[in-house]
Amino acid sequence: MAWKSSGLMQTCRFLLLVILFLPREMTSSVLTVNGKTENYILNTHLGFQESLRCAVQNHTREEELLWYREEGTVDLKSGNKINSSSVCVSSISENDNGVTFTCKLQRDQLVSVSVVLNVAFPPLLSGDDFQTAGEGSDVKLVCNVKSNPQAQMMWYKNNSILNLEKNHQVQQTSESLQLSITKVKKSDNGTYRCFATSPLKTVTKDFHLFVTDRTAAVPIEPIIAASVVVFLTLCFGLIARRKRIMKLCIKGEDPQRETAL
Ligand SMILES: *[C@@H]1O[C@H](CO)[C@@H](O)[C@H](O)[C@H]1NC(C)=O
Ligand SMILES: *[C@@H]1O[C@H](CO)[C@@H](O)[C@H](O)[C@H]1NC(C)=O
Ligand SMILES: *[C@@H]1O[C@H](CO)[C@@H](O)[C@H](O)[C@H]1NC(C)=O
Ligand SMILES: *[C@@H]1O[C@H](CO)[C@@H](O)[C@H](O)[C@H]1NC(C)=O
Repeated sequence: MAWKSSGLMQTCRFLLLVILFLPREMTSSVLTVNGKTENYILNTHLGFQESLRCAVQNHTREEELLWYREEGTVDLKSGNKINSSSVCVSSISENDNGVTFTCKLQRDQLVSVSVVLNVAFPPLLSGDDFQTAGEGSDVKLVCNVKSNPQAQMMWYKNNSILNLEKNHQVQQTSESLQLSITKVKKSDNGTYRCFATSPLKTVTKDFHLFVTDRTAAVPIEPIIAASVVVFLTLCFGLIARRKRIMKLCIKGEDPQRETAL
């Protein structure tokens, strides 16, 4: 029993030593990206070019490096993998904002350094800029925005800040500024200007709202009358043609069968 337990103790001690020393051996290599050993945010601008140099340090042997853009691996030339590796992000666009580049040790992928791009760009506005609404109906003007840093948004009408009426409701998210108008009135007709102000630039976009007459918008009676006329015309046309088609069929029928009749 005593022998057994001392054997067990020795096994445990051995395992402990393995656990203590093995991971240290594995992770003795350290990675740096542009000289930094920690993950970091890289501030940059539209059209810029950024190069990221990853290097291994405190390594005892040749180390292969991997680069990832988000989840996907970056194809590296053969001379750009061992001990150090550089990637270049050129003509940086809005789509590069928030993208993560990660350098990893191929042998132990837990050893890594990540860089997140923070691309500053002025507001980009989009949306349906011509809308028609019948008087009394509901309508929504949506000014979509993309901006970094986030922009301050505002609706203008007739060169001054929009005077919110009872039937108006403004909603803002990080992606859009919306104006909901219920029971549209004639006085709601006009051009609404979406203003986006960021530290980089102020940008505007016009939204034209055409409010049409309640009656002009839904001329149901004339439409029904016209539809009936068109329908009847088609029917008569079909009947006339069917007669002609039937005549043709009878003419084309087997003469013997015809005689048999
Ligand atoms: C790299 O090795 C040096 C000398 O062996 C040591 O002082 C340093 O702390 C190591 N760096 C890291 C990040 O482990
Ligand atoms: C990579 O580093 C190892 C260890 O320092 C060295 O032996 C090897 O020659 C280096 N290889 C290249 C391609 O730099
Ligand atoms: C626009 O503003 C001008 C002057 O502030 C005013 O005279 C005019 O009536 C306004 N137009 C509309 C459609 O509100
Ligand atoms: C309605 O608004 C549109 C867009 O601003 C404008 O072109 C049009 O003249 C306005 N119509 C009336 C009747 O005010």
